[in-house]
Amino acid sequence: MKNNISDRLVRKFDNELKFFKGWLDGPKAVGAIMPTSQFAARSMASVITPESGLPVLELGPGTGAITRAILERVSPDKLISIEYSQDFYEHLRNEYPGVDIRLGDAFDLDTTLGDGGATRFDCVISAVPLLNFPMETRIRLIEGLLDRLPKGRPVIQISYGPVSPVATKKTGIVATPHDFVLRNIPPARLWAYRRAALA
Ligand SMILES: C[S@@+](CC[C@H](N)C(=O)[O-])C[C@H]1O[C@@H](n2cnc3c(N)ncnc32)[C@H](O)[C@@H]1O
Repeated sequence: MKNNISDRLVRKFDNELKFFKGWLDGPKAVGAIMPTSQFAARSMASVITPESGLPVLELGPGTGAITRAILERVSPDKLISIEYSQDFYEHLRNEYPGVDIRLGDAFDLDTTLGDGGATRFDCVISAVPLLNFPMETRIRLIEGLLDRLPKGRPVIQISYGPVSPVATKKTGIVATPHDFVLRNIPPARLWAYRRAALA
């Protein structure tokens, strides 16, 4: 028990150091100052419906805090994670050998997945720093992700600003607040994006 706790603390500290190094190397691409807390990660993963049998798509796993929470809900063979940074990618491959981790760009999903748009997912859990991309790019990303989900299923996005990082007016997307997590540095807002009912 004692060993378990100390192993967890060492791993947490190690991940925080890795994250900080990633932030120093590319603050815009990383977009946060600390790894996602387990509280925010678990809230994001709570939308997964394991009984759908469909895989989950994770964008921007970084050090893997959200990956871990997703793996509390589904088995590793039901997760595809796309990470842009080579360092984080290598770390994730070591830490989660059964997960299909792809090194690539979440904004160029068809190339990164190499599936011609065919793979359907249960939902998408995203930590990519949307605010660092132009609004049209954010909207295009969410639209493309929703095309790969069954009707009504969400893209869950973590963000730190007061408003939705995706302006949904005049789009076929509906944004709803999923959660506000104080126990995260900084406090996080979690957004759910779904296809509008009539779209
Ligand atoms: C806020 S951090 C995620 C933190 C992660 N939840 C954790 O606890 O370590 C954002 C992540 O998105 C990745 N990222 C940024 N742009 C990306 C892109 N275009 N495609 C895929 N991943 C991207 C960054 O490399 C970083 O790992």
